[in-house]
Formats: sequence, structure tokens, C-alpha cells
Amino acid sequence: MERLRQRQCRILRRPRLARWGDQGRQGRLRPAVHRRATADGQRVAELTARGRVSSLLPEFPWDTIASAKARAAEHPGGIVDLSVGTPVDPVDPLIRSALSAVAEIPGYPTTHGTPELRDAAVEALKRRFGITGISSAAVLPVIGTKELIAGLPRLLGLGSQDLVVIPEVAYPTYEVGALLAGTRILRADGLTRLGPETPALIYVNSPSNPTGKVLGVDHLRKVVEFARERNVIVASDECYLGLTWEGRAVSILDPEVSDGDHTGLLAIHSLSKTSNLASYRAGFVTGDPALVAELLEVRKHSGMMLPFPIQSAMTAALSDDTHEDRQRERYRVRREVLRKALEQAGFRIDHSEAGLYLWSTRGEPCRVTLDWLAERGILAAPGEFYGPQGAEHVRIALTASDDRIAAAAARLVA
Ligand SMILES: Cc1ncc(COP(=O)(O)O)c(C=O)c1O
Repeated sequence: MERLRQRQCRILRRPRLARWGDQGRQGRLRPAVHRRATADGQRVAELTARGRVSSLLPEFPWDTIASAKARAAEHPGGIVDLSVGTPVDPVDPLIRSALSAVAEIPGYPTTHGTPELRDAAVEALKRRFGITGISSAAVLPVIGTKELIAGLPRLLGLGSQDLVVIPEVAYPTYEVGALLAGTRILRADGLTRLGPETPALIYVNSPSNPTGKVLGVDHLRKVVEFARERNVIVASDECYLGLTWEGRAVSILDPEVSDGDHTGLLAIHSLSKTSNLASYRAGFVTGDPALVAELLEVRKHSGMMLPFPIQSAMTAALSDDTHEDRQRERYRVRREVLRKALEQAGFRIDHSEAGLYLWSTRGEPCRVTLDWLAERGILAAPGEFYGPQGAEHVRIALTASDDRIAAAAARLVA
């Protein structure tokens, strides 16, 4: 414990944040596709003298499926877009009225969020997931969790000497955040892959996007144990914890996993999917009080505060479980319809016991499957977006209306 504190202090006190010049040169993993230099790009590079930051990042994945999207849109029944996990069901009236009730308030919000919001988060984690031992001070609202994840390695002061571990098949923003901070990156699902290396930060994502895989208590305990022994920070992205269809998904902060000790642990929670609040940008991070306090300190200086009406909406969403239950049931029905149709059409569905996606394969390169689906007017996300191990899968989202899901199912079995 003392060693973890010492390492945290080292990370938190690190004098020099990563400079752009250091960017991941020693990284084990380069972005799959680099942006091509354009005349505009050249001009920006000259203006900034140090080169374009965007050139460090992969091509924005969704730009690469434009032709499949155009083909799917030619379907006489219209496109069924299942490529992005964006909610389509309306925001609950309870949340909308909490937003508009404070619309006249003009002052700056606080970065830490209102006490009501933080208390509501503490209570929701207890009620919904049995997570205890969180103090309201250790809750920090974020402007959607993508923003936090893209900035986390840099907020923690990590740089070129540090290693960030992300899942083999992963939500792309973990890699983006590490590239922006110039850290080394390793894709690994198991601790043995790390060898003698001691990472600075390990990401876990259970239930996973894109695979829907759930990590059991034993697996998570091993990660926590390893992290404690080697003074590593664990960031657990729990965006889909409230959307579990089979079995049980637990938080890294669950007493069964952490033994009630949150040192070195961060749990990242989004309201985008469970409360249909993607448009509002609403999430929070909690866990180790010292780490959360440090994030708060840096974010306060950077003006990274959640708009006050969104804080109010979030408080209402976290205080009510009925709208969440209703939404979960909508997705459960859509999942059943799509799953049956995909299996009937010869797909194999792997994992997918939780979350908003069916991780599906026909045992062929994912771009071939993407074209096969586009012929039927259905757009999916190619598995290679999420890492080389996704090369033969497509990710099919459950986030479409009942009608569009029914249309997709009918096309799949026709
Ligand atoms: C695993 C995972 N983490 C984080 C996010 C970001 O969610 P948001 O920024 O809407 O909170 C997503 C969104 O799809 C996701 O799938």
C-alpha cells in the first residue's frame, strides 16, 4: 500500500508532462492507419513548428466505412445503421425537466460538481451495483467519459517512459489517450503478456466494447492484486455495467474485488447508454480519493467543468432507476431479435453476454462481412477498428428503434 502511494506521488508529482516531440516513439504499437499529409496539413505543421498532433493519431475509423454506408443507403427500405452505439430512444421526461428547471441559472458551475450530484452517484453505485465505501468527495463528473479517457494519461502526467496497457480488442480512445500523452502502449488481456514490465496504467473494460465479454471476480482480483504489488493505476471503464444480459458483471470497486480498498483504482461511469444521455455528455469517475483529487485539481485549472443544467439532469438520472430498467428491457428485446436473425443467417456470436453489441463473425475478413451486410442495407462496424484480433468480426449495435431492428432481422433471414 505504501509503495502504491509512493508511486502515485511520483506520478502525481512528475515535473514534466510529455512533450509532443516524445510522442510514443518507443511505443510497441503504432496507429494502424496514419493520416496522409495534405497541403492544409503541411501548412498547420509549419504554423505550429512541431508538426500536427492529429498526425500521431489513427485515421478516424468511421471515415473508412463511407463506401459501405453509401451501399447500405441504396437499399430500397433504407439503411439500418448499426455501426455506432448511439442511443435512439428519447431522454426520459424526468431528466429533461431537471435540465430545464435550472436553465435560467447564469453562474459558472464547479468542476467538482454539486454535492447533490456526487451524493446521487454514491447512492446509485450502492443501489445498482452494491459498491460501498465511496465518499462523495471522490466523485468527479466528466463531460462524457470519452473526454476523460482521451485525456487520462496526460492528466496523470504520464509520458514516453510509461507504459499504458489496453485490452487486445478495445474501445479506440484508450489508444488515443496514450498516443496523445506519448506513452508506450501494449495490448494485453492477461498479466503474463506483460513479462517483467511494470505499466503505469492498466485499462480494463468489463463488460467490453466491442466484444460484450464480462471479466469475472477472479480475473479482476488478479489485476488488482498485480496492480497493488507493482504500484500500478487501474482504470476500469464500466460504461456497460448496467447492461448485463447473462451472468453478472462487477465493478473494480466491488468489495468482492477490491476488499473495500480503492487505492490505485479508478472506475469510469457513463450515463450515455444506460440513461440515453449521449447527447448531454454525462459521466463521472470515482475510486481512489487521492487520484480523484489530483484529477480534480488539474481539471479545475483547465476549465473542464460539466455544464450546470447537465449536472442537474445527471442528478435526476442517477436518483431514478425506473427509466434505466425500462431502457434495459428495450435493449433486451432488440438483442433477442437480432441475435436469432444473425444466427439464422449463419453468423457466430462470440461473448456478447453484456453491453450494447453483438460481436459477430462469419469466419472471413471483417470488410467482406461488412460488404455482405451493406448489400442488405445494414451497416456494422468492422472488428479491426478495435484491434488486430478483431479482424474477422463485425460489431453490430443494438441501438436502433424496434422497427429498424425488425427490418434488419427480416433482411438477414430473407
Ligand atoms: C467502452 C466505452 N467507454 C467509453 C465510451 C464513451 O462514452 P461517453 O463519452 O458517451 O460517456 C464509450 C462509448 O461508446 C464506450 O463504448
